[in-house]
Amino acid sequence: MRSAEWLFGVSAVLFVFGIGFVVVGARSARHPTTAMRPSAPDLVPVASIRQIMQGIVTPGATAIFESVSTTITLEGTTEKAPRTNEEWAAVANGAAALAEAGNLMLMEGRALDGDWIKMSQAMIDAAKLTLTAVQARNPQQVFDAGGEVYTSCNGCHAQYMR
Ligand code: HEC
Repeated sequence: MRSAEWLFGVSAVLFVFGIGFVVVGARSARHPTTAMRPSAPDLVPVASIRQIMQGIVTPGATAIFESVSTTITLEGTTEKAPRTNEEWAAVANGAAALAEAGNLMLMEGRALDGDWIKMSQAMIDAAKLTLTAVQARNPQQVFDAGGEVYTSCNGCHAQYMR
């Protein structure tokens, strides 16, 4: 009787392990190792810098710049800041688009020289700072990050905009 119980125990353990192997097997099939993953295709730039500026950078930056403000009039002071999840998400979406626009500007065929790379990265960093501020739901931090974004725009324009 005891050995029957023991055998049952062993087969139960084997059964559970068997399921474990099936699960692990299925997972590794879905996530091929790096060697098996197809390499990223070569990227070919499509948009002009002006189109990236007008189509992605400006809307992204505007979403950040306009999200937090203080307006002082004779009637009093109005503080504007994101409040709902949707409003916070709109700021995050703008910042994410801005960061990705920075990536586009770093693409082969666009990155003009070392300063261009530094200035695009400065814009990406400022956008990421904004994302951190949104995560913290901190309007003052968003405002400050917006200042960094603005500085990054001006730095590059001073040098490359003709
Ligand atoms: C790494 C360099 C770089 C950064 C960073 C950069 N820009 Fe630009 N931007 C340019 C260049 C170069 C032009 C000129 C493009 C042209 O006219 O061909 C330009 C042009 C523009 C224009 C004028 C487009 C037009 O109508 O002619 C706007 C608007 C603009 N940028 C907005 C921004 C904003 C907002 C930011 C920051 C959030 C920013 N840019 C950051 C390089 C940059």
